[in-house]
Amino acid sequence: MNLSVPRRAVAAAALTALALGGLTGTAGAEPRAASALAAAPDIPLANVKQHLTDLQAIATANGGNRAHGRPGYKASIDFVKAKLDAVGYTTTIQQFSYNGTTGYNLIADWPGGDPNQVVMAGAHLDSVSSGAGINDNGSGSAGVLEAALAVARAGYQPSKHLRFGWWGAEELGLVGSKYYVNQLPTTERSKFAGYLNFDMIGSPNPGYFVYDDDPVIEKTFKDYFAGLGVPTEIETEGDGRSDHASFKNVGIPVGGLFTGASRVKTSAQVTKWGGTATAFDRCYHSSCDTTSNINDTALDRNSDAIAHALWTLSGATTEPPTGKVFENTADVSIPDNGVAVTSTVNVTGVAGNAPSTLKVDVNIVHTYVGDLVVDLVAPDGTVYNLHNRTGGSADNIVQTYTVNASSEVANGAWKLRAQDRASADTGYISGVKLTFP
Ligand code: TRP
Ligand code: ZN
Ligand code: CA
Repeated sequence: MNLSVPRRAVAAAALTALALGGLTGTAGAEPRAASALAAAPDIPLANVKQHLTDLQAIATANGGNRAHGRPGYKASIDFVKAKLDAVGYTTTIQQFSYNGTTGYNLIADWPGGDPNQVVMAGAHLDSVSSGAGINDNGSGSAGVLEAALAVARAGYQPSKHLRFGWWGAEELGLVGSKYYVNQLPTTERSKFAGYLNFDMIGSPNPGYFVYDDDPVIEKTFKDYFAGLGVPTEIETEGDGRSDHASFKNVGIPVGGLFTGASRVKTSAQVTKWGGTATAFDRCYHSSCDTTSNINDTALDRNSDAIAHALWTLSGATTEPPTGKVFENTADVSIPDNGVAVTSTVNVTGVAGNAPSTLKVDVNIVHTYVGDLVVDLVAPDGTVYNLHNRTGGSADNIVQTYTVNASSEVANGAWKLRAQDRASADTGYISGVKLTFP
């Protein structure tokens, strides 16, 4: 049975909101230009360094470290979460248990983007117990945090979905990131376009290392540094020694950046990058891994590279819309339990037949879609059914249908036909759009 209360006004308001989101455009036969991709913003080094100062203060107030199972770790999680909550992220703290102690991952989703194409950036937030872990891995944690905050400041609307992660207990064997990927259903894993890992990106005697994994991610980072005139090398100081390995193990494309740990910089690398022929990070896993253990230039460049990669990898649509678009946005009211009505779209200037993938964007406001039969009628009268009284009491049909119309001549008067077949609820055709590739 139908809903008895007419809710047309509410439904119309909801649909207007959708239309503003870009569902309806202007009528016309001109091919559309691909919209320009937004450029990543510069990440302010001062903001990244402030996060490091805050993480240092958390360690200092909690026995000098931010290690798994210690109070400094949970305080670090709460600190990052509060920053993200304040700017509109959807955050989740994920608990796991390791060696009888509770561990935490923080997951933050930026609302919007294609949920079937997820680009994720992450960093481990835990330190070893011997120190504050400011380069390892306050640096990656702060860089990823500031990139996430830059997404919010820019009001960025990527075409892919952006997610961020801060991992617990990396130092005990990638424990948190393994837990995260293991609890993801296979279908969720398949939605990842890529995972970007940042573990140690401000080493005091830095090198510029790019992970040699997914070629697209790798090229994105290499191109960025090439643009700065900074040479890079492939990361070789222990592949699989950070959280990207957890993602790679389940088939997710990965990449990342690294400025070096305990390995010694060669003289050739000193020639290339400056610094000294000593360890990239002489305080690696030591008590001197404090805010003094950071090279600002490396931290700045790598933080900018995080933003560049996020924007580049999430912004591009696979195929920019280049088709010819025809539409009718006039409202046509659909009489309750009455005759069929139509909205006509005149197609001109398209040679030959319609495609096998004719895109039909249907926009119908109605308070009970289960009443409706909706068809596309070709110029010669052939009927293609799009919707046949399914969906029950749901409001509105706002959907793109793909019709195999290859046996139809493209040019002519196409019609969207709608009929309401049960009494009580009513509505109207708000718009119909045909896209020829
Ligand atoms: N994750 C390691 C640690 O925290 C550091 C490390 C060593 C590393 N080799 C690496 C990180 C290579 C990334 C890539 O101890
Ligand atoms: Zn680390
Ligand atoms: Ca009805």
